[in-house]
Amino acid sequence: MARTFFVGGNFKLNGNKQSIKEIVERINQASIPQNVEVVLCPPAPYLDYAAGLVSKPQVSVGAQNAYYKAAGAFTGENSVEQIKDVGAKWVIIGHSERRTLFKETDEEVAEKTKFALDQGLGVILCIGETLEEKKAGVTLKVVETQLNAVIAQVKDWTNVVVAYEPVWAIGTGLAATPEDAQDIHASIRKYLSEKLGADVAEKTRILYGGSANGSNAVTFKDKKDVDGFLVGGASLKPEFVDIINSRN
Ligand code: G3H
Repeated sequence: MARTFFVGGNFKLNGNKQSIKEIVERINQASIPQNVEVVLCPPAPYLDYAAGLVSKPQVSVGAQNAYYKAAGAFTGENSVEQIKDVGAKWVIIGHSERRTLFKETDEEVAEKTKFALDQGLGVILCIGETLEEKKAGVTLKVVETQLNAVIAQVKDWTNVVVAYEPVWAIGTGLAATPEDAQDIHASIRKYLSEKLGADVAEKTRILYGGSANGSNAVTFKDKKDVDGFLVGGASLKPEFVDIINSRN
C-alpha cells in the first residue's frame, strides 16, 4: 500500500491574520495533487481562523503543541479538545524547539502524543539529533531513544506521522542530503518494524524536516522512505506550493 505523500507547514511563531490569509488562499488557489495531504500549523491564536479559510479537502490545520491534560489550571497550554473544537485535525509534538527551549523530555513528548491520539488528533511526532550527536555518530541511538519513549505508551500508530528533523538542518539552509535522509529514514522504519511490526512500519509515514524548500524538495523524489516534509521557513513563502507538488 502506497503511503500518501504528506507535507506539513510549521509556521512556528510567525504571522498575523493578513499573512496567514495569504498563505491559505495561495494553497486554496493552487493546483495541487489529490494524493497529497497538507497540514498547515499556524500559531495557536490563528488555528480557528486558518481552519475557516481552508477550502481544499486534502488540506487541514494542525497545532504546534498540545498538553496532556484535558482542561484545568494549566495557564498558557493548548488543549487538545479546544484544538479539535476549532477544526484542527493534527498537532506537532516533540519539535526540537520544544525539546530544547522548553525542556520537554522524551516522557512528556510521549505523554502528549498518547493523550492527543487518544482524543482523536493526528500527531506529527518530531525526532532528530543535534550536530554534536551527529558528529559523535549517535544519530540512530538518539532517534531510537526518542521513539522508545513513545513506543512504550502508544501501540496504535495509525494516526502518527514521524518527522525526522536533524536539529543541525533546521533553519540553517543546510538540509540533509536526500541520500543521508533516505538512510536514516530506512533505519527508522526498520526500527519501527522491530518494535511495532512490519505492518505498522510499512504504513507509518516518515517526513524529512530541516531547510526543505521549493528547490531541494524534488531531489528527495525517488527516496522511497521519505514520505513527505515538515517545512518551517519555506512554508511561509510561495515556494511551499512547489514542495507540495514535488512528488508529481
Ligand atoms: O518544523 C519544521 C522544522 O523545524 C524545519 O524548519 O524548514 O525552517 O528548517 P525549516
